[in-house]
Amino acid sequence: MDKFVIRGGNPLLGTIKVSGAKNSALPCMAAAILTEDEVILENIPQVRDIETERRLLESMGAEVELGYGRAQHRTSIKCAVLSDPVAKYEIVKTMRASSLVLGPLIARTGMARVAMPGGCAIGGRPIDLHIKGLEAMGATITQEHGYLEARTNRLKGAHIVFDKITVTGTEDLLMAAVMAEGESLFENCAREPEVIDLAALLNAMGAQIKGAGTSTIRIKGVAKLHGARHRINPDRIEAGTFLIAGAITGGDLNVDCCNPAHLGSLLGKLEQCGVKLDIGKENVRVRSGNKLVAADITTEEYPGFPTDMQAQYMALATQAEGTSVVTENIFENRFMHVGELNRMGANITVQGRSATVRGGTKLQSAAVMCSDLRASAALVLAALVADGESILDRVYHMDRGYERLEEKLRGVGAQIRRMGEVFGKK
Ligand code: UD1
Repeated sequence: MDKFVIRGGNPLLGTIKVSGAKNSALPCMAAAILTEDEVILENIPQVRDIETERRLLESMGAEVELGYGRAQHRTSIKCAVLSDPVAKYEIVKTMRASSLVLGPLIARTGMARVAMPGGCAIGGRPIDLHIKGLEAMGATITQEHGYLEARTNRLKGAHIVFDKITVTGTEDLLMAAVMAEGESLFENCAREPEVIDLAALLNAMGAQIKGAGTSTIRIKGVAKLHGARHRINPDRIEAGTFLIAGAITGGDLNVDCCNPAHLGSLLGKLEQCGVKLDIGKENVRVRSGNKLVAADITTEEYPGFPTDMQAQYMALATQAEGTSVVTENIFENRFMHVGELNRMGANITVQGRSATVRGGTKLQSAAVMCSDLRASAALVLAALVADGESILDRVYHMDRGYERLEEKLRGVGAQIRRMGEVFGKK
């Protein structure tokens, strides 16, 4: 298992580029199931979840070409024949977002068999709202031996009011509704930029979707979709992680190729903490200057503070003067990083859904364990300011969603390497 070795203390200086959004790329790749034509996606990040989705699509009969390094990380997907519309447990267990293929599979083939995702480190991750929505569209769903089987002659448009806001639930049902008979009206939808990204691709494929990015989405079903070319949005969570890296190390970092319009709640909070930001059209420069001061956050659905930035923000809060209260509203168990941050000298206590961070502590290097994707990012950030050399174990969690992280951070002055490499060598 790969490890990161990080020597803290260097301010990050220069320009760092943001990759395409993993959480947009995953539903967009699943959308290719809806047509037999070629779908070309640009700006696909080179991360492990994308490789997993490639394996998933290929296992169903799709032809997938991931063109990394060539023009724009261009990926071509062609689902001319879907010989095996099954998402097998071996693949689903490593990536819960695999349930995103449920909607498009049933829409295209009238049948889908998808392994039920289990729980994960940050909570139960049920998919009951996906199931309820597909049933409302006329699918018959049965569950046995850990698999969920959905069947229908043709899905029908439906009026669905989500009990709870769900990002992949909104995306999954959107993909089911685009080729359903008649119109659908979805209310209480997720408003995340990733939903807008998916809807833009689907519309380019011939779908008729209105309202993506608001809580009400209207879809007019069409008989067939065709191929399209689409560029994936920049990753707002990777951008946010880099902004905190710049702030926590007291650096001067230009986070480039991002979309600051998607970062509103984080940028506001960083400014409240005393971080100096120059916000451009496609970049944000973060500069040290003022002392960091504590500020509370509460995670919420977009446009609120993202749960995917909570762990990284907590790392920053350990370095701010005063006490910050971090409240996690989206997932029930998303404080796995707290124990490890405390082992590095942080002073954080958890009670229920809130963590109290007593800031201004000096962090020390330690051997720590990554438990999930964003928790790993928090540990990297803490290690970048800790005294001495930290060793982060299980960085495969990190590789699920951050493209060439160590290379990108080294490019702006961080001392980070994978175990086995030599510092400074690219
Ligand atoms: C997506 C993101 C993930 C992010 C999360 C919240 C992807 C691939 N992943 O995950 O990075 O942390 O949004 O912004 O885009 N829920 C139910 N029933 C359901 C579905 C969800 O109760 O059928 C609950 C979940 O347990 C959770 C809440 O709804 O408490 C939000 O989850 P959801 O938005 O669905 O998260 P994901 O789409 O899985």
